[in-house]
Amino acid sequence: MQPLTSTIDLRSDTVTKPTPAMLDRMVTAELGDDGRGDEPTVKELERVAAARLGKEAGLFLPSGTMSNLVAILSHASFKGEVVGEASSHIFRSEMGGLSLLAGLYSRPLPGRAGAMDLGALDDCLRTPGMTAHALGTAVVCMETTHSVGGAVLSLDHMHAVCAKSWQLGVPVHLDGARIFNAAIALGVAASAIAAFADSVTFCLSKGLSAPVGSVLTGPRPFVERARGFRKMLGGNLRQAGLLAACGLVALEQSIERLADDHLNARRLADGLHRIDPHLVNPTDIVTNIVVVHVGTDDVRQWIKILSDYGVLTAPVSKNALRFVTHRHVDASSIERVVTVFGEIYRTRPTLLFAR
Ligand SMILES: Cc1ncc(COP(=O)(O)O)c(C=O)c1O
Repeated sequence: MQPLTSTIDLRSDTVTKPTPAMLDRMVTAELGDDGRGDEPTVKELERVAAARLGKEAGLFLPSGTMSNLVAILSHASFKGEVVGEASSHIFRSEMGGLSLLAGLYSRPLPGRAGAMDLGALDDCLRTPGMTAHALGTAVVCMETTHSVGGAVLSLDHMHAVCAKSWQLGVPVHLDGARIFNAAIALGVAASAIAAFADSVTFCLSKGLSAPVGSVLTGPRPFVERARGFRKMLGGNLRQAGLLAACGLVALEQSIERLADDHLNARRLADGLHRIDPHLVNPTDIVTNIVVVHVGTDDVRQWIKILSDYGVLTAPVSKNALRFVTHRHVDASSIERVVTVFGEIYRTRPTLLFAR
């Protein structure tokens, strides 16, 4: 095999660097003090993002995690249950913030590929508030695309979740960290997805290549409450227009090219499937995330060996890796990763002991 000249980093799309156009826009951005509400570039980003998702108002936040927490606080105001699919980022990867910081009770539901079981939702949904015997549902959360395997919620599923929740007056929050990937996969505008939630957050810092930031969108009173919770959590930024400028460029220039990432993810899945069909089912790959079942009890061995070949990846379970395609990964990088896998299969059969 040819020696590697550069690293192929497939750990996440969060590793993407700002584009030259973003850096240019940063330098010329008009700045103010966002904590005092007079940051023109942040205001512009919040307006553009909200319009894009068909919502009334937007709020710029430093991260997706803070955005989800602020959204839940703004809906729930420290009371009730937070319902969602158990493997969603909110339950799995946000450090228990909704219990530890927001004082809310988690109600994770079973599901598949990020879509909660609708029967389980029926069983647990309650009118918000508290009775002598039951704590009400504060908010129902959905996630698209799913952060584990990149699956996209169908609009029918989202409609069903909303119909059940809204009937009881329960608000719905969408963690749409990668909502533009979902929109491309479904062939609809992001606003058509966002219509099935009261509030939606998305990340600028993932496949869209901005260095920092998320935008939370929803009705104006909700967003104004969220602004207070952002300050409570220490999320007020000052000359944040430097970052918002990159966010504006991301919304103008980075969305369409996400389709290339989906294509490369599918290429990777096809290539690995040809080496060993157990590794991945290519038809499961609909966006930019490929979960690879490497057939070992200790996935860390694979991570180490792949990194020796210059391929960086991350675990999603004891025996599966997650590969995320993005702007810095092209078709030749994918070919290289497939070649590396082939080489590992030939030279290290003992790695496959758990099959
Ligand atoms: C679905 C989802 N929600 C939220 C987040 C959190 O975003 P951040 O890393 O900006 O806190 C992530 C990050 O990977 C994610 O995949």
